[in-house]
Amino acid sequence: MEHIKKYIQEHKDRFVEELMDLLRIPSISADPAYSQDVNACAESVKDHLVKAGADKVEICPTKGYPIVYGEKIIDPQLPTVLVYGHYDVQPADPLELWESGPFEPVIKTTDIHPDGAIFARGACDDKGQMFMHVKAFELMMQTNSLACNVKFMIEGEEEVGSDNLGDFVKANKTRLKCDAILISDTGIIANDTPSITTGLKGLSYVEVEVTGPNRDLHSGLYGGAVANPINILCEMIASMKDENNHISIPGFYDKVVDLSSQERADMARAPFSLEHYKKALDLSDVHGEEGYTTMERTGIRPTLDVNGIWGGYTGEGAKTVIASKAFAKISMRLVPNQNDEEITKLFEDHFKAIAPKSVKVEVRPHHGGEPYVAPTDSPAYLSASTAMEATYGKKPVPVRSGGSIPIVALFEKELGVKSILMGFGLDSDAIHSPNEHYGLFNYFKGIETIPHFFAKFRELNQ
Ligand code: BES
Ligand code: MN
Ligand code: MN
Repeated sequence: MEHIKKYIQEHKDRFVEELMDLLRIPSISADPAYSQDVNACAESVKDHLVKAGADKVEICPTKGYPIVYGEKIIDPQLPTVLVYGHYDVQPADPLELWESGPFEPVIKTTDIHPDGAIFARGACDDKGQMFMHVKAFELMMQTNSLACNVKFMIEGEEEVGSDNLGDFVKANKTRLKCDAILISDTGIIANDTPSITTGLKGLSYVEVEVTGPNRDLHSGLYGGAVANPINILCEMIASMKDENNHISIPGFYDKVVDLSSQERADMARAPFSLEHYKKALDLSDVHGEEGYTTMERTGIRPTLDVNGIWGGYTGEGAKTVIASKAFAKISMRLVPNQNDEEITKLFEDHFKAIAPKSVKVEVRPHHGGEPYVAPTDSPAYLSASTAMEATYGKKPVPVRSGGSIPIVALFEKELGVKSILMGFGLDSDAIHSPNEHYGLFNYFKGIETIPHFFAKFRELNQ
């Protein structure tokens, strides 16, 4: 497969420039102020697919942001790979923590990326990884080596819960018919330790509101005599985990699938250094559910975390006040076979049950999603494994991730097809954080690996 390396070598600079142009578009799906940019980004993805040689390229409108579709059917007898990715990005705040503009991509080297990394919002999640597929497709078209039929479905609402993708999938089952769904929106353990993501967490996300007195009060005149909603909210949140960091919502663990000791032993074989993990995060110690390793806590155990909490006076100086209201955003990451709607209901019932009579509480559910696990003996997994082994010189290890891509479970339900999560990012790439970046090594390695996947997948399906 020398043609792959040769083509990448010859077109390297352009591949980087094109990605940087895409990264200049602030396609933040969460903030309506950027709606023109999100739509412009869809146009740009469409143009790139057309130029790379895709047919029937179309911007498919939805109630929200559009889905970009394109395909190349070389032979109906051959297997078809559906590539999914997203062109929308997370908001860039807090802006003051960025060393360069989030939408002004620059290349810098880091300890982990001695060959350089592109710094910009979306560099890794997911523009950089999605674009690897467009460039790998271009490469296969230009070198006459496209081994399977390919379909592209690139959405613009992943970071806000993919609200409209479900309808699109349900309405386009024939158009989306395929033998495997290939997604690069996850990561590997390290650049010398390739891995394939075999699990994604589900998500239940709620916002809670605790109301005490009907107005903000003088904290001396009323303090100690009425419920302070901020204090109460903190107590309620604290009570949701016991001394072993086990979540105390009744029924929360009822459907959790426990792993066998064999499966846990297999998991423990994936390379992981607690020392490096702590060092990378400036932590003296880790923290989590008793009886489980760090990899198990993130990979196979459900979790509950406050994502934001506010209320009262947070401005300059001191203001002596008891707030009328307190708020928090809380996420629960779920594992097989927990169902997000059931968990949200359990949370809501529990939160109401533990609220003292001195406050009123409200629970508002946000988007959710179901967990996903992938087999390691499917043709798609074997193709990804073979492809990575060819380009990294090492067989990748299966890893269950703590992240969520809720639409993957829906693909399985609606299309009856499993997804293969062949991502190339690193945990240290700071996705969703200031100074997000994507290594050039990772970008080119992805472009190189994808054609190997196609070749092996064709071979295994003949
Ligand atoms: N690409 C990420 C998910 C991810 C990253 C999974 C790394 C595994 C490894 C995706 O864009 C994302 O951020 N998902 C959200 C959920 C979504 C509903 C907003 C998440 O995991 O918080
Ligand atoms: Mn993503
Ligand atoms: Mn994301």
